[in-house]
Amino acid sequence: MIYLDHNATSPVDPRVIAAMEPYWKERWGNASSVHAAGRAARRAVEEARESVAALLGADAPEEIVFTSGGTEADTLALGAVRALARRRVAVSSVEHPAVAEMARSLEAEGISREILPVLSSGALDRETAARRIDPSVGLVSLMWANNEYGGLFPVAEVADRAHATGALLHTDAVAALGKTEVSARSGADMISVSAHKIGGPKGTGALYVRRGVDLPSLLPGGGQERGRRGGTENVAGIVGFGEAARLCRLESVAERSAIETLRDAFEEALLRASASARIWGRSAPRVGNTSAVAFEGASGEAIAIALDLEGIAVSVGSACSSGSVAPSPAILALGASRADAKATVRFSFGRGNGSGDGETAVRALARILPKFDLDRADGRVREWRHE
Ligand SMILES: Cc1ncc(COP(=O)(O)O)c(C=O)c1O
Repeated sequence: MIYLDHNATSPVDPRVIAAMEPYWKERWGNASSVHAAGRAARRAVEEARESVAALLGADAPEEIVFTSGGTEADTLALGAVRALARRRVAVSSVEHPAVAEMARSLEAEGISREILPVLSSGALDRETAARRIDPSVGLVSLMWANNEYGGLFPVAEVADRAHATGALLHTDAVAALGKTEVSARSGADMISVSAHKIGGPKGTGALYVRRGVDLPSLLPGGGQERGRRGGTENVAGIVGFGEAARLCRLESVAERSAIETLRDAFEEALLRASASARIWGRSAPRVGNTSAVAFEGASGEAIAIALDLEGIAVSVGSACSSGSVAPSPAILALGASRADAKATVRFSFGRGNGSGDGETAVRALARILPKFDLDRADGRVREWRHE
């Protein structure tokens, strides 16, 4: 299989599995227990906290709250507005559902929602954003990088704007971690991250919370995570996240440029082969691993299925909404028609991809797409050059 769906999840690094294993087999203690087994688990959790804190440039490990993943980290972060006098959140129009749907559900509690739009290039509409982040807004949530088309957002600039008006700034960095520098030094008050996007296990994530930010708990429970997230710690998962974070810190900078080269080679081969393929967000800042392509007039879902039969794994829209045929809200927010949004396929590269994988995908597309053209009611045949 050629796996081009790293934004959905990444393969677990064998070194992460090796680090986790003892915490199921021998060191299965509860990190809250006072005996030796408990203390060993606690030590492992705290080492992992230091590793994630170092990756995110936190001032102190205590600023890291372990969660069950990116979705919980986002939900926890947006809930911070409940402790604020200003009952208004501002979120970008291309947020992952973990942020977008939480912002929507807060409306039932009387917390209103402002949208920060993006331009058709995929970049944030900075002027409108600056205008809409006014003194009525308590919390701004702007993702660091978009998971569907890869767009990068000016988190530091928007954090400054938020702070100037007295608001907090949260950033969902799940799709950015390992693909670009993510740091608390951006000024962000809260940063969501998830282990499974950087070679760690699924079901483990974290929220960086700047010291002094008041964070109401979603799970008061037994008061773990300094009262911010109750529940017995997922020790093995947290250890795996710590190891993935350590490896990410050591290796991702070098890896990134190699991955970007693969992605760029794919896009160049694609554009050589097809006059009608359209790549979203290509003229704006993007992470180097993602390519969201609209194949005009085709069904993205049908292409993904046909590619799967050729042994190539890609996705349509965000993985979390796959299984539904609704067009991706993030692609629609770029000004795409419903048809173009539904014709969009996401190719995301990562560790394990080799040179030639992108070209193999383009050759498979060249075989697949003309077949769709034959079925088209309007009889138009798209140009595809077979190499
Ligand atoms: C940008 C973004 N935020 C949040 C999430 C949710 O993370 P998790 O799968 O760990 O809940 C994802 C996962 O696809 C994502 O891409």
